[in-house]
Amino acid sequence: MAIESGDEWWRTAVIYQVYPRSFQDSDGDGVGDLPGVTRRLPQLKSLGVDAVWLSPFMQSPQRDAGYDVSDYTKVDPLFGTMRDFEALVREAHALGLRVIVDMVPNHTSSDHKWFRKALAAKPGNKARDRYIFRDGRGRHGQKPPNNWQSVFGGPMWDRVLDGKDGSVLPAKGANGKPGQWYLHIFDSSQPDLNWENRWVRDKFKNILRFWLDRGADGFRVDVAHGLVKQGGLPDYTPPAEGASMGGNEAAEPYWGQPGVHEIWREWRGVLDEYDGDRALCAEAWVSPIERMALWVRPGEFDQAFNFDYMFARWTARDLRRVIDESLTAFGAVGAPSTWVLSNHDVIRHATRLGMAGDPPQGDGIGPRSPYPVDAALGLRRARAASALMLALPGSAYLYQGEELGLPEVIDIPDEARQDPTWKRTKGKRYGRDGCRVPIPWEAEEPSCGFSPTGRAWLPQPGEWAAFARDRQEGVPGSTLELYRAALRLRRSKRLASGGVRWLNEWSRSRTVVAFRNRSVLVVANLGRRPIGLPDGKPLLESAPTRLGRNGKRMLPPDATVWLRAGR
Ligand code: GLC
Repeated sequence: MAIESGDEWWRTAVIYQVYPRSFQDSDGDGVGDLPGVTRRLPQLKSLGVDAVWLSPFMQSPQRDAGYDVSDYTKVDPLFGTMRDFEALVREAHALGLRVIVDMVPNHTSSDHKWFRKALAAKPGNKARDRYIFRDGRGRHGQKPPNNWQSVFGGPMWDRVLDGKDGSVLPAKGANGKPGQWYLHIFDSSQPDLNWENRWVRDKFKNILRFWLDRGADGFRVDVAHGLVKQGGLPDYTPPAEGASMGGNEAAEPYWGQPGVHEIWREWRGVLDEYDGDRALCAEAWVSPIERMALWVRPGEFDQAFNFDYMFARWTARDLRRVIDESLTAFGAVGAPSTWVLSNHDVIRHATRLGMAGDPPQGDGIGPRSPYPVDAALGLRRARAASALMLALPGSAYLYQGEELGLPEVIDIPDEARQDPTWKRTKGKRYGRDGCRVPIPWEAEEPSCGFSPTGRAWLPQPGEWAAFARDRQEGVPGSTLELYRAALRLRRSKRLASGGVRWLNEWSRSRTVVAFRNRSVLVVANLGRRPIGLPDGKPLLESAPTRLGRNGKRMLPPDATVWLRAGR
C-alpha cells in the first residue's frame, strides 16, 4: 500500500537520467552497460541525487537506441544480464538511491514476436489486432490509410506482404502480395500497439509486475500521450516542419486522446499492489500545463515531465509565468511540479541557451545549423538556469553530463550519426545524437574513462577532456561543484517541499527573476548589467558576485545566486 499521500519520496526527489549506452562501458565494446552504471553509482550518490532513471536496456535491435523493445522481460546482451540489473538495484538501494525503469508501451520493435506473428497472420486475425493494421486507400490499397506523418520523418504507415513470410515492403525475396498497412508514429521498425485490445493491456500489467518484483521503484513511461488514437484515424496535416511530439493535441489525432487515461488508472492499480511508493512518471508532450495536469490527477501518474519549463525562453517574464502556471496547475491536482532542462531527445541546455534566434524545439543541430551558438554564454546561462531550477519546490530531473556543463556535440561526422531521424529525413534533420555522446569521467584515460578500450559508439570531441569529472572534482566554481552544492543546500534548506514567493521589488522585472523559498532568497539576473543584491550571505553562486563601490553585493548578468534571507 502507498504511504500517506504527501510524504512520498518522489515529491521532492532529484532524479538523474542515466542513458546507459553513453554512461560507462565496462566490457570494452564502446557501448555503456549496466555493470558500468553500477560501478559509478557511488559517484551519483556523492553528487547528491535521490534516484536514477535508466533509459531502456531491454532486448532490442537498437534501431532507436533501445526505444524499440523486442522483449520486455529480457536485458539486452549489449547492456548485460538480468543478474547485472539485479546487482545494480541492490547496490543502488544499499546507497539509498531508487531505480526508475523506462517503459515503452506505445510501440514494440518490429522484431518483437508479437509483431512477427501479426505479419504472418491474415488480415482480421487476432494477432493483427494487437497492432494497428488497416487496408490502404486507392483501388488496389496502394495508398496509405491516411496522411499522417511520422515524428521521425516520412509517412506514419508501411505496407506489408501478405503471405506466410509476412514481410514489410519493400522485401527482397519474400513471397506474397502487397497487403495491409501498419501504423508507426516513430520509425517503421517501431509498430504502434493497439491499446484498445484487452490482451495488450493485460500483457503490460504483467510486464510492470515483472520489474516491480525485481525491485524497480517506478517507471518513466515513454510517449504516455500517444497510446490511443482518434477513432476512424482521420487525416491530419501537420505544420510545415513536420509532425512533432505533441503540444497541439487538440488537433493531432494521435496525441492526448481522452481514452488514454483509462490505461494509466489501470497501471496505477498495478503499482499500488506493491509497497514502498513505486512511482509513475509520464513523458507526455502536452500543452498547456493545465492539460498536462490531467496526467497527474490522483489515481494516474505521480509526475509528468514539465516540457513547458524546459523550453521556456530565457526571459524573466517567461520563466515567472511558467513557474506560476506549473505550481498552480500541478498543485490543483495535488501533484508536485517537476522541472527539467535536458534529456536524451533535446539539445543540451548548455548549448540551447547559447543559440541565437528562436530554434525549433526538440531536435538536434549540426554544422549547417542556422542558429549560431555562443558556447561561453550557453554554459554561463546553463549554470544560472540549473541553479534556479534546483531552488524550486517539487522534483527535478537531471540528464547525465549536465552536471559537467556538457554542450551539445554539433560536428558529429555524418557517417557516424545513428538517430533514425537523420536517415529518414535524408539528413535534413540532424536528430538527437549530439546530446548522446558518451560522457567524460577521467581526462587522461582513453575515451575519457568511458570505455576501458577507448572505444565510443559516438565519437567524443577533443574538448571532452576539459569537461571530465576528475577535472572538476573539488575545484571551486566548477559546474560539478555547483550542482553538488545546490543539491546539498536544497536538501538541508528543505527547498523541495517549500514554495515560491516572488520578491516584490522584482516581481514585474523584465530582467530579474527573484523569489523566496523558505529561508533562501533566489535571484537570477537575465539582463545585460550587474544588479545590486539584497542583504544576505551568499550560499550559492552560479558566477562570482562582487562587492560594488557602494558596498552592495553585485550579481553579474546571466547568473543566479542563493542568499540567506533575513528574518
Ligand atoms: C520517446 C523517447 C525517444 C524515442 C521515442 C520513441 O520520446 O524519449 O528517445 O525515440 O519516444 O520511442
